[in-house]
Amino acid sequence: MGVTVEQLAPAEVAGLGSRVAASVAAAVKVPGQILREVLVALVADGHVLIEDHPGVGKTALARALARSIDADYARIQCTSDLLPSDVVGANVFNQRETRFEFRPGPVFAHVVLVDEINRASPKTQSGLLECMQEGHVTVDGASHPLARPFMVLATQNPVEYEGTYPLPEAQLDRFMVRVSLGYPPARQEAEMLSAHAGGDRVLDVTAVTSVDEVLLAQRAAIAVHASASLRDYIVAVLARTRNDPRVELGASPRAGLMLLKAAKASAVLDGRDHALPDDVKQLATAVLAHRLLLAPTAFGLQRSEVVRDALAAVPAL
Ligand SMILES: Nc1ncnc2c1ncn2[C@@H]1O[C@H](COP(=O)(O)OP(=O)(O)OP(=O)(O)O)[C@@H](O)[C@H]1O
Ligand SMILES: [Mg+2]
Repeated sequence: MGVTVEQLAPAEVAGLGSRVAASVAAAVKVPGQILREVLVALVADGHVLIEDHPGVGKTALARALARSIDADYARIQCTSDLLPSDVVGANVFNQRETRFEFRPGPVFAHVVLVDEINRASPKTQSGLLECMQEGHVTVDGASHPLARPFMVLATQNPVEYEGTYPLPEAQLDRFMVRVSLGYPPARQEAEMLSAHAGGDRVLDVTAVTSVDEVLLAQRAAIAVHASASLRDYIVAVLARTRNDPRVELGASPRAGLMLLKAAKASAVLDGRDHALPDDVKQLATAVLAHRLLLAPTAFGLQRSEVVRDALAAVPAL
């Protein structure tokens, strides 16, 4: 008989976060900040968009994360002929019992890697993003709840656009953070080459926590205190992106909600029960940049620069 723990203290969430980070980092060489942003998304119940080139460890990252938290893992490779039912599942006829029964699709795993999401047709993309938003799948009028925790890591190749369907802004907005793993530093890459001589390091990853504990950590993040002045600070940063003449479409109120959730998760991962402007600053680029639509005249500008400038312009109280 296990003891039922109702609540995790911030210090316990911090411990959980360090264990998961160490476990993932042992198998995949990822910059510490990126790993942190992925953990923040996990604890904030958010989804991650990974924009990267082939072969930088995206699949390894998702698998290592799933193994570390003892979660079910599924991978979906998107192609233009992938159907919504290939993702969410479908009712199939059971001959023996002469009735239809629901066969769940890969989206019912806890951690779902959606590779090359921009190769799926708009219809399949919206089917997937809809269940990311709603936490359940509706097929033929019947609703089926998704697993909890539920985290989508969707990848997009930033170079190849031929034959793709770029995600519309509204759908990009559903991802809490966008990250890019990039190439590892030379020393780490060399370490990786030697480590790999012994086989796939991800298979060595063992659980350092459980999905139930992750749910408790998510609950602890919700309980983190955010002061009125912190909320005003976030609103001021959002407003700054909207008033920037280089920006056609600034950060939405939904972006602000995501930033607040992320800041609270970051606070609890640091063992604090209250969020600080520094939490907001650390996450603002990962949370806001991908939602901005630059003006056509802002050629060559990085969206992260807009966020950086907004942070620099708004005094933290
Ligand atoms: N940063 C990294 N750290 C550790 N291993 C890595 C890293 N990058 C790549 N690898 C190793 O290289 C191989 C390919 O990595 P992986 O499949 O995760 O790349 P990917 O980004 O998913 O590629 P693709 O875009 O083709 O799906 C794996 O064996 C993986 O373990
Ligand atoms: Mg891959």
